[in-house]
Amino acid sequence: MLTIRRIQPQDIFSVIKIAHESLPERYQPNIFNTFYESFPQGFLIALKHHKIVGFLIGVKTHDAIAKILMLSVNENHRAQGIGSALLINFLQEMLLQNIRLVDLEVRTNNKIAITFYKKHGFDIQETITGFYQNGEDAYIMRQVLQMH
Ligand SMILES: CC(C)(COP(=O)(O)OP(=O)(O)OC[C@H]1O[C@@H](n2cnc3c(N)ncnc32)[C@H](O)[C@@H]1OP(=O)(O)O)[C@@H](O)C(=O)NCCC(=O)NCCS
Repeated sequence: MLTIRRIQPQDIFSVIKIAHESLPERYQPNIFNTFYESFPQGFLIALKHHKIVGFLIGVKTHDAIAKILMLSVNENHRAQGIGSALLINFLQEMLLQNIRLVDLEVRTNNKIAITFYKKHGFDIQETITGFYQNGEDAYIMRQVLQMH
């Protein structure tokens, strides 16, 4: 059974482990506490049989704008709808928080993530050359949230 819920302080260590295993960037462990403290509504985890298998971190950048900073699903749990469940929950939560626009950056060579975000209603807005530390380019992807 899959559960999506807001992170709690005792979950942060597992999230750091997944981030370390599956994201190319290296983050200071403290930054996860900072995200939790500053905007807990945007920090979600996915649990399968009570084990954390994925997470999403979004922050509020302006009054009605949020940015997805990280999204990752444990490698052996991918392609099972878990990333989608995290993102759908996040977008619903953002509407409740009066967020109207969500954007994110993604490596232009991360075809799986780009397909994933397009499927969920994001469009490529622009390319930022040399955005990442290793010189790779980023797409900015964006979605205007629709009230249902
Ligand atoms: C991107 C990521 C979060 C997707 O999570 P996931 O749980 O595997 O995705 P889902 O099972 O919900 O897939 C939803 C859609 O994404 C696309 N997708 C997912 N995996 C794919 C793959 N291996 N190949 C092609 N498209 C894929 C498909 O459109 C899929 O829809 P479908 O199942 O109808 O074909 C996951 O691949 C991941 O953690 N990647 C590493 C970290 C990363 O790149 N994060 C994003 C940048 S911040």
